[in-house]
Parts: sequence; C-alpha cells; structure tokens
Amino acid sequence: MNVLIIGSGGREHALAWKSAQDKDVQQVYVCPGNAGTHLENKVSNINLDSNNFEVIEGFCIDKAIGLVIIGPEQPLVIGLSDYLQSKGINTFGPSKSAAQLEGSKTFSKDFFVKYNIPTAGYKSFKNYDLALNHLEKINYPTVVKADGLAAGKGVIICSNKDDAVEALHSIFKDKAFGSAGNRVVIEDFLDGEEASFIAVVSKDKIIPLATSQDHKAVGDGDIGLNTGGMGAYSPAPIITDSINKKILDEVMYPTMRGLIKENSPYLGFLYAGLMIKDGEIKVLEFNCRFGDPETQPILLRLNSSLVELCMAAITDNLDSYIIDWTPKHSCGVVIASDGYPQSYESNKEVNIEEYAMDGAKLFHAGTKFENKKIITHGGRVFCATALGDNLKEAQKNAYNLVQKVNFDGAFYRKDIGFKGIK
Ligand code: AMP
Ligand code: GLY
Repeated sequence: MNVLIIGSGGREHALAWKSAQDKDVQQVYVCPGNAGTHLENKVSNINLDSNNFEVIEGFCIDKAIGLVIIGPEQPLVIGLSDYLQSKGINTFGPSKSAAQLEGSKTFSKDFFVKYNIPTAGYKSFKNYDLALNHLEKINYPTVVKADGLAAGKGVIICSNKDDAVEALHSIFKDKAFGSAGNRVVIEDFLDGEEASFIAVVSKDKIIPLATSQDHKAVGDGDIGLNTGGMGAYSPAPIITDSINKKILDEVMYPTMRGLIKENSPYLGFLYAGLMIKDGEIKVLEFNCRFGDPETQPILLRLNSSLVELCMAAITDNLDSYIIDWTPKHSCGVVIASDGYPQSYESNKEVNIEEYAMDGAKLFHAGTKFENKKIITHGGRVFCATALGDNLKEAQKNAYNLVQKVNFDGAFYRKDIGFKGIK
C-alpha cells in the first residue's frame, strides 16, 4: 500500500519513517514534508496545498493511497478528514466537529463541564470590557488563552492583574493571535506536574499509547516562554497504574462517550494535556492529533506497525488489537533556532556528522533540502531521539546525538527528562 502523511514537522518525519518500515508499504508521501522525509528511504515529499481538498483527493487517487494520516491540527479543524472519508479514502484523523476539542478552547471547556471531566474553572469572553471587568473578581496567578489555534503560543500565564490586562490587550486589541483571539478564555491557574496522555480512538474503543512527558518552556528548569515543546520522553513515571486508570475513567472514556452523544464519534489520535497533583488530574487541553515532540520518542518505542494500528482503527477492529512496545526508555531533545519561540533566523546550513548509534534517530522538523544541502526552515529544527535501558541512558544517548548536529544559532534545553530521572 501507499501512505500519505500530511504535515511538515518532526511528528510527520516520525510518522513517515515508521510507516515506511512496514513491509506492506511500498511508498510513503509526505505533504509537504521536510529535508528529513526527503532523505528517508521509501519516502518522498510532495508539495500540494492541504487546504485544497480536491487536489489532495486527486493525488490520493493518482497514487493509489491506501491510508492518509493527518499530522497537524489545522487541516483537521477545517475538515480534511471528513472530505477524504466522504470520498472513500482511508483517512486517520478526526472530523471537523470532533477537532473542535482543539480548535476552540471555549468549545472544549464547555464540553468538559457538560460531561463532568475535571478541568480548571474558567469563563469565556467575546467582549474586551467584560473580560477586563472579570479580572477584578479573580485570584492570581491566572491564565489567559486565545480561543482558537495559535500553534501552542496562545496561552499566557499572568502572575498579577497588570499582566492579565496586558494579555487581554494583546489578544483583543493588538490581535496578537489574529482571529484565534476573537474570544478569550480566562482560567484558574493549576499547579502540579504536566503529562501527555495520547490514545488511538475509534468511536467507542480506546487504545492508550505509551505515556510521555513534554517540556513546554523554552529554558532549563521549565523557565521562560512556552513553546510547542522542547523535548519529551517516554514512558512518564508520573503516570502510575492508578493515575492511568483515573485518566481513562475520568477523562478519556467520558470524552469518547460525550463525542458519540454529540454525534461526533472520534477517529484518530486523541491527546489529553493533563495537570497532575497529589493523585488528582485535571485536563489543561485536548489536542486532536499526535503531540510534537511526543510522537518522536513514542514511535521510537513502537515495535508493531503504525499503519496496521491506524487501519485497525479505521476499520473498527481495535477490540483485539495489541500494540507491541519495547520496554526501553526513549528521550527526544529538540534543537531549535536561536530566538524561538519568538523571532528567529532561518536558511542556516546544517552540518550533520555521520553517526552509527543503535536505537537513535535524528528526526527533522524545520528543515528543507536545497541544492543538496540541509537548510534550517523553522523554529524547532530537529528532535534528536534515542532509546536506552533506562531514562538516564536514553537521555545520554539523545544528547550524544545532539552533538552531531551543527548550525548557526542552534540551541537546546540541557535537562530533557529531568523530572522522570528525579
Ligand atoms: P494549553 O494549550 O491550554 O495546553 O496550554 C499550554 C500550556 O500552558 C500548558 O501545557 C501549560 O503548561 C500551561 N497552562 C495552560 N493552562 C494552564 C492552567 N490552567 N494552569 C497552569 N498552566 C496552564
Ligand atoms: N507537545 C505539545 C503539543 O503537541 O501540543
């Protein structure tokens, strides 16, 4: 079979790399992909506009695509999965209506309340003055969030009222996140440790993937601005068996059932961002897709086939499906461009030293291939990912791989995995 992956990040490189390992897969296409997918065996890039559904459909027919996996949220939120499914093309990714769980914070918060899913208290505003007025009545710190998609950057933690006023101003008045900020959610600040819980969901069936933990802040020790994620590791010891059960019982199953009730049964990766404290969990957000960078360390641990798993979900055969994971630990360190998550320079030539390291893989993210050279083309540029018998060894192997990559302005966190090791 031939597979099409939509997207261009580190997540999509990992999805393509894993799909290409399947013996039943002849060719993987990535739209638009990056330098890493271009250089991967059995994988080629294709530059189509994923907002143009007919063009994607035409490509799928032309190349006899047997499975489409949609990586990022944006095409899901505008309905690419619905469209391709309606044309009879096997597509792994939720419908436009189910993707609202990520596409609108107000939608997801209202959904949590309706289905009794634990989350922080909140209020949602379309009006700047009403939102300002609300700031008089709450405790600090507080969290101000743009309602719509903002590439993980539309969340501002405000330690006092002045910060919150500034946040509202930048979202409502300066339009820092464009129309994603036409509404704002003001939410209680939650304390605790974060974890990512990602599952494959197909209507009323859920198969949890290996657990993981991301590192959202740009700086060591979780200091500084929030990013899309600076590194991740798997498994995450914070998700003990009892927490795992609680997440399924209090979050994942109620969500799945709620979506069925709303006539939006889910198909795809479902990602709950959680805050855990003293054995209690609260949902920070839902994503309607696999995490980036969580995908990279998680897929490095996957022994069984990703394509088979997605097809089992699409054909409603998850019941008897068993995923095979290596018991090894995995760690992925993001190498970013200086300045990220704010402005940064691109078009730097990358030099990668040859390496032969078992269980290590350098996933590309913001790279492109030009004149036979790898050039930087984004804020997060690589995710150096490696296995180890324990997290400490996986971390050491991942940082050894980081040393093989050089470009002007490269930076990375030095402490990915620290909470798991502690
Ligand atoms: P979100 O996109 O809603 O997950 O927010 C992005 C990041 O902001 C989360 O991963 C947390 O680190 C932080 N965050 C979001 N909501 C809260 C909250 N209510 N309390 C504390 N931190 C939060
Ligand atoms: N790593 C966080 C995300 O994918 O949203």
